[in-house]
Amino acid sequence: MSVNGSGEYEKLAPSKAAPAPPATLVIFGAMGDLARRLLIPSILNLWHDGLLADGFEIIGVSYHDADDEALRNTLDEFASNKGDGETEGPEWTAIRERIHYHKGDFKDDATYTSLAGKLKGNAAFYLATAPSFFGTIVEKLAAAKALDEADGFRRVMIEKPFGTDLASAQELNKRILACVPESQIFRLDHFLGKETVQNIMVARFANTLFEAVWNNHYIDHVQITAAETVAVGSRGSFYDATGALRDMVPNHLFQLLAMIAMEPPNSFAAEAIRDEKAKVMKAVRAPAPSEVHDVAVRGRYAAGETEGKPVKAYLEEDNVPADSRTETYAALKLEVETWRWAGVPFYLRTGKALTARDTHIVVQFKPVPFAQFHTVPGAAPGTVRLPPNRLLFQIQPNEGIDFEILVKRPGPTVEPVKVGLDFAYADRFELGKRTGYETLLYDALIGDQTLFQRADMIEAGWAAIAPVQEAWKEGAPEDYPAGSAGPVGADVLLARDGRHWYELGK
Ligand code: BG6
Repeated sequence: MSVNGSGEYEKLAPSKAAPAPPATLVIFGAMGDLARRLLIPSILNLWHDGLLADGFEIIGVSYHDADDEALRNTLDEFASNKGDGETEGPEWTAIRERIHYHKGDFKDDATYTSLAGKLKGNAAFYLATAPSFFGTIVEKLAAAKALDEADGFRRVMIEKPFGTDLASAQELNKRILACVPESQIFRLDHFLGKETVQNIMVARFANTLFEAVWNNHYIDHVQITAAETVAVGSRGSFYDATGALRDMVPNHLFQLLAMIAMEPPNSFAAEAIRDEKAKVMKAVRAPAPSEVHDVAVRGRYAAGETEGKPVKAYLEEDNVPADSRTETYAALKLEVETWRWAGVPFYLRTGKALTARDTHIVVQFKPVPFAQFHTVPGAAPGTVRLPPNRLLFQIQPNEGIDFEILVKRPGPTVEPVKVGLDFAYADRFELGKRTGYETLLYDALIGDQTLFQRADMIEAGWAAIAPVQEAWKEGAPEDYPAGSAGPVGADVLLARDGRHWYELGK
């Protein structure tokens, strides 16, 4: 153990990598929220870490009447988000002068012919636009020959949501793949940019301990939670057309599920990993229509309070129709039909306006077969139910891993008591503030597709939840007070199996 004199751990620096090859990053929707709040800060972080080459350039495409300087001005206020409290003077200046504006309507061929004329060598096209433009932009880029790789790589980065159901995702994949091969497509799921999500693979495949018991002989069930305190706020019209299920489950939560449930890949090459993830996502059984009622719960927040502030009911939010049946909370019980996982339920839940911001995975192990502890106070021999071992991946906030084991309570009797072997990332590593997009941008520039979704993975996610989407076209969600842990129905879902959810915000 590397404990220093003060009793604290020495912190380890982040890993290092070589700069990505010089390239132009073309951002469609350069004036939008994603570009400003996430992409620009990430680019700054990459620059700061020496991960962008000298020849790195940015072209922002948007329909607004603007020029280079106007675009740079809009981005200025978002360029100080490195988390160390300092504004990025010289570093921002270096990036700033590499930013150029390209005015154009996304539906107009001329936008693309003139853009193609400006591009030399490597280019990555980032579609930070409304999803309705994804297909059109790719088709028009291809028609303008901007995706030909004659004098450098040409890659397309596509944000979520990728479709709104299985049929629309298939349709979009078909349109895009008719223009450009899968090897040039980088479909984003920003959860995969989170360090702790990537760490699941290391925890599983770099430690003998876990992988040896990673199956239905030892694991009782898995819980995957993405709880948010934020309400829908100003996103009413987007959110009402989307809902918690579509927004979070087939993409983010399924990525977490795949990380937990995939088989060990043959190598750490992108395709080997994506093959295993795709396999396990395809093994998630879509419930039969008659089962949906028993395995899926939807909720909608009523008025309440989160983080000490009042929250109005979802139905009172701006741009939410009074007869909305959109859910702001979804919980599912899923089965993964593989040799390894048969019989192990995967419980997924996500929601807005909940009691805590808490994204975690709990792997709960089976109880010991027999507890020989005769001295647990008040319990007859052989009747003691000991708390099970639990492995907790804390994705956010306070990233880390906790492993709950039983130890003897000190004293004259042999009394088992639960404790945590708690690892917090912040205790052991220097963590700058990261948006999570740094890795994704860098990987796209070096051509590593590991953290991007392949067409079959996207479609498998939609296929698994299709019956729930269908069933939820009728009826209405169950209310839960804002600031609570979600609807009562979600507790009942687990209680029926003799289980309960891990406490939020613990
Ligand atoms: C987005 C969803 O994809 O993920 C949002 O559209 C959600 O509704 C967000 O709030 C959660 O991401 P994070 O990184 O804040 O957990």
